[in-house]
Amino acid sequence: MSQSVNSKATTSKVAILGCGQIADAHLQELRYVPGVQVVAVCDQLQELADQAARRFDVPGAFTDLERMLTETRPDAVHVTTPPHTHASLACQLLNQGVNVYVEKPFTVDVAEADEVLSAARRNGKLVCVGHDHLFDPVWLRLQTLVTTGQLGEIVHVDSVMGYNLNGPFGKIMFNDPHHWLHRLPGGLFHNNISHAIYKITPFLSDELPRIHATTDRPTVGHPPTELRVMLQGESVTANIRFSSRARPVQRLATLYGTKASVEVDLEARTIRWCRSAKLPGALGKLDVPWQQLREAAGNLRRNTWDFLRCRQHYFAGMRELFTRFYAAIRAEQEPPIPYEEIRRVTAWMDEIFRQYKFTEIDVPASIPDLVGQA
Ligand SMILES: NC(=O)c1ccc[n+]([C@@H]2O[C@H](COP(=O)([O-])OP(=O)(O)OC[C@H]3O[C@@H](n4cnc5c(N)ncnc54)[C@H](O)[C@@H]3O)[C@@H](O)[C@H]2O)c1
Repeated sequence: MSQSVNSKATTSKVAILGCGQIADAHLQELRYVPGVQVVAVCDQLQELADQAARRFDVPGAFTDLERMLTETRPDAVHVTTPPHTHASLACQLLNQGVNVYVEKPFTVDVAEADEVLSAARRNGKLVCVGHDHLFDPVWLRLQTLVTTGQLGEIVHVDSVMGYNLNGPFGKIMFNDPHHWLHRLPGGLFHNNISHAIYKITPFLSDELPRIHATTDRPTVGHPPTELRVMLQGESVTANIRFSSRARPVQRLATLYGTKASVEVDLEARTIRWCRSAKLPGALGKLDVPWQQLREAAGNLRRNTWDFLRCRQHYFAGMRELFTRFYAAIRAEQEPPIPYEEIRRVTAWMDEIFRQYKFTEIDVPASIPDLVGQA
């Protein structure tokens, strides 16, 4: 697929900072974002910068951020480094007049988030966070259902986030006791739970709901990998289930409304309505499966059509979010994710990890120096 790039005047020059695992997805998706040209990649390790530049045909490969900024003058930089580096790098970039896209989690805690958000405001530049599931085609369809009132008022949200410790990201992180993941206050959860939280914040408007978080019981050298969170707002409640043991690995959200309830499945990219029988008595037991069958046929038709048009790729939400971010930069408009949302997600994470403290028992075997740094 080739990209149609806008005229030079409207082209945003973009650089990637951090050429690890997720950088590939950014470089891949940016190819299809209108009005964007990737001019440089930067990593503290030369070989990682070089390989990314080579594979994605990027003209500049750097190990020094300042040099990259001086020589290539990007309009925006994507910070795809580990979370504990996000705040300082984002502030450095914003203070130099560069727009910034920061991968999730935005920062390690809300104090850092405030620093980045005020740097953005102070410098008149935009900052965005990688809450990409919100821009997945299926989530955008859900938003239409909500805004057109088809679900009524939302009373409860269940947000499920499955994680495969043997998957491409999990294996590297969890098998290496020295991996940066283990230094985050919330460990494995800290790196992933924002995906489950930002699916709740749009429906639960409280600044900080009552939160009760609990994990499985870790044994020495084996950090917890199961997290459950109950959230109680003024008028809406929510649950989060993060599980690395349950199969299949799921990314689901169920929204319970006063008119109707739906389950959004980000893996299958489907929306399933919770159905009740329209026919009386025993006939209802035929009616509900019949309705479900018709719905499944509709989902199959839609997904087949999107598949044939090459629109079924995993990071479709990321591409859409990038597209909206660069459109906002060009039009000097509000960023696609409100800063208040970024702040609330981070504040809720702080509260969850305050309740679940990283303790000596959680540290993977053979890395004693990590205790206390978290
Ligand atoms: N949106 C998603 O679905 C998704 C998926 C995976 C990872 N992520 C996020 O992306 C971020 C990076 O994760 P990853 O798995 O790619 O990590 P990684 O460890 O594979 O890559 C990080 C890279 O950053 C480089 N780096 C670190 N500090 C640097 C600095 N100061 N200057 C330049 N380079 C530096 C490292 O050398 C490394 O190559 C994390 O915040 C993670 O949560 C998001």
